[in-house]
Amino acid sequence: MKKRPASTLDPKKIKSAAFVIEEDLLRHNLERLKYIKDQTGCKMFQALKTWATWPLFSITKKYLDGTEVSSLNEAKLGYEKFNRSVHMFAPAYKEEEFNEILKYCSTIIFNSFSQWKKFKPAVSKFVKKTGLKRECGLRINPEYTGKDEHSGLWSPCAPGSRLGVRISEFKEALKADPKALDGISGFHFHIFFDKTFEDLKEGLKAVEDKFGEYFAGRKWINFGGGQKMTDDDYDVEGLIKLVKNFQQKYNVTVHMEPGAVIVKCAGVLVSSVLDVVERDDVPYKIAILDMSFNAHTPDFLLSTDLDMPVTGAVIIRDESIIKKNSNTYQLAGGTCVTGDKLLGQYHLFKNPLKAGDKVLMEDGIQYNLVQCTMFNGVQHPDIVLWKKNSKGKYGPKLIRTFNYQDFKKRMG
Ligand SMILES: Cc1ncc(COP(=O)(O)O)c(C=O)c1O
Repeated sequence: MKKRPASTLDPKKIKSAAFVIEEDLLRHNLERLKYIKDQTGCKMFQALKTWATWPLFSITKKYLDGTEVSSLNEAKLGYEKFNRSVHMFAPAYKEEEFNEILKYCSTIIFNSFSQWKKFKPAVSKFVKKTGLKRECGLRINPEYTGKDEHSGLWSPCAPGSRLGVRISEFKEALKADPKALDGISGFHFHIFFDKTFEDLKEGLKAVEDKFGEYFAGRKWINFGGGQKMTDDDYDVEGLIKLVKNFQQKYNVTVHMEPGAVIVKCAGVLVSSVLDVVERDDVPYKIAILDMSFNAHTPDFLLSTDLDMPVTGAVIIRDESIIKKNSNTYQLAGGTCVTGDKLLGQYHLFKNPLKAGDKVLMEDGIQYNLVQCTMFNGVQHPDIVLWKKNSKGKYGPKLIRTFNYQDFKKRMG
């Protein structure tokens, strides 16, 4: 299996702050996903909630089958810019949006039997009226959390999760109405976050043990996202075998919704140091950057246990081992919010940081770019593609830059 190639990015050629996607690395991930598809016949839909830079759908759609969306806006984007294979899941649908959802989505997945019952007549009416094919699915929840390193924050099956039908509810619904599954083409489960093939095997066993007897007669089973399929050490051949066996055993097509893995390690958030502040009551220095953790990387504030790898720096989590006068920094954002800083981790650099130095947050695209805001009026980082030109030279191609009007329009 081809290993992830080295980055060719020259940060000197990037005006900060910027989200920079490296085309070669993006294609590397996509080639891996396409290989899995080609070997198994499974279908893969790009999860737009993870990364939705639509000008680059012209690349991703060459490798993947369609999009996975969770809102009407995402559905429109998938339909308009990717293709007509738009697969939607939302925890609940709004009546006033549902007809539009039917227009854009080829598959609609429901989170409960009550939602399915409520919207089933609208689906039938739409299909009759338009002659278009629409498939419906049901999200299931096997109550499997596996190794949950983030205290339930990212586990869709943690106790109290609103996502998916549990087996007890499932059986009750079928008891009340034995025809409750009529019209349901497939089941969907999304139970992983950044997990290995071993975790998939374990999680899938929990799904099959609870719901396997209901798979007969379905067209597809959707495994969701959260698998680290594009990591160098992921057991790709193991996955291929598992998917093939699963499809044969239940006579279904496996669907997957990769998100993070599409852009994993395929881009960075480039920022610059604006100032360095030293305080005698802490052992580290504070580097103020021309970006904002609140506005540009909100997941890292929500979950301080997520590592933020920075090029050329070592992450230190234990403040007590930081040596005074070392080049250890707390990275802080440029807004005036007290908490706009990376909590729970410090970065040890080889050399002291000074104003103007570039700080490259690796794997900086997934979930950051889609969640970016212009909070505090902070400049939204540019979106840049790093690519090889016709003469074989690498350089930046600006995809989008943001200005005062973008900020103003969002405020009123
Ligand atoms: C329903 C669904 N599918 C797919 C994904 C993509 O997951 P990931 O980006 O971890 O691959 C998510 C992420 O939350 C999701 O909720």
